[in-house]
Amino acid sequence: MVDTSDPGAQAKAPNPEEKWTVEKVLSIHYWTPSLVSFRTTRASGFRFTPGHYARLALGSDEALVWRPYSLVSATDDDYLEFIAVLVPGGAFSQHLAKLAVGDAIKVDKACFGFLTVNQLAPGRDLWLLASGTGIGPFLSIVRDPAVWQAFEHLIVVHGVRHSADLAYREDFTALARQPLLAGARATLSYFPAITREPGASQLSGRIPQLLANGRLEQAANLPLSLADSRVMVCGNPDMAFEVRQHLSALGFATGRRGVPGQMAFEKYW
Ligand SMILES: Cc1cc2nc3c(=O)[nH]c(=O)nc-3n(C[C@H](O)[C@H](O)[C@H](O)COP(=O)(O)OP(=O)(O)OC[C@H]3O[C@@H](n4cnc5c(N)ncnc54)[C@H](O)[C@@H]3O)c2cc1C
Ligand SMILES: NC(=O)c1ccc[n+]([C@@H]2O[C@H](COP(=O)([O-])OP(=O)(O)OC[C@H]3O[C@@H](n4cnc5c(N)ncnc54)[C@H](OP(=O)(O)O)[C@@H]3O)[C@@H](O)[C@H]2O)c1
Repeated sequence: MVDTSDPGAQAKAPNPEEKWTVEKVLSIHYWTPSLVSFRTTRASGFRFTPGHYARLALGSDEALVWRPYSLVSATDDDYLEFIAVLVPGGAFSQHLAKLAVGDAIKVDKACFGFLTVNQLAPGRDLWLLASGTGIGPFLSIVRDPAVWQAFEHLIVVHGVRHSADLAYREDFTALARQPLLAGARATLSYFPAITREPGASQLSGRIPQLLANGRLEQAANLPLSLADSRVMVCGNPDMAFEVRQHLSALGFATGRRGVPGQMAFEKYW
């Protein structure tokens, strides 16, 4: 029983009425000075679908800053993982830049989002198009065994400025070499698209351009079609807008009111 006469004990007692849990930072990995992944403890009741985002809070109780972050970890990991860009002057970024192992972070108990495979009608090829930190939820999605049974081809495209920004490259290339499931139906292809280092990747240029000039389809050796392709897009809102225009012209639609579609989006700002 909690001794409520001790204000310290009262503050530490978990409150089931609260909408968040307080988790502990387990590890921090800097990919570049402004790109960081971190792991936290996971509350036993925390449930999510790959592609969902959680709301995180840092700062003092009087001035908490809440921001949404996509889950990178798989549903069966006993920790939560996130990737974040440190935006100069950003309210959350300023706290994140000082985060240390052992620090506390608040995690909303509920998860949200429409960037989930169940938003899509059944298909043959799943195209996962990310810019920058938008790659995070796609690692969670391709670590879901059900996705390897539902599709024949998983095509991951990661658009970044510099090769150093290719977070989780090793994870995707490992999955491309060896599927998640023995006897899985799907194969995975991974394509970096680096925009500011000429010659650093087979594909260079922004994702909407690579769609428009057919280079993505060429690289994957697969045509984009309404019948077979399902497309998920995550990251920069201008990139998402341009991809959406391209796909809409081909007849693709987002899921609506329980009717699954052929494309799904998550815009980060
Ligand atoms: C549904 C959802 C999920 C998100 N998931 C992630 C995630 O997994 N990882 C992540 O880093 N951010 C994610 N974001 C953005 C994140 O919530 C914050 O906005 C961001 O990390 C910066 O917070 P801030 O308070 O420091 O600056 P803010 O004041 O929130 O942002 C300032 C500016 O920074 C730029 N910016 C914001 N986010 C990014 C980004 N991810 N990449 C490049 N530029 C950006 C934009 O120009 C924005 O206007 C997500 C946003 C949404 C809506
Ligand atoms: N990445 C870094 O080196 C770096 C360094 C310091 C700070 N930051 C911070 O991080 C933020 C940017 O992060 P980020 O590099 O992850 O994201 P980003 O600016 O969205 O760039 C990621 C990829 O998306 C492309 N892109 C940008 N606008 C696009 C559009 N309209 N259509 C299609 N593709 C588009 C970029 O191409 P282009 O290269 O052609 O723009 C790049 O390949 C900045 O606001 C800054 O605060 C980043």
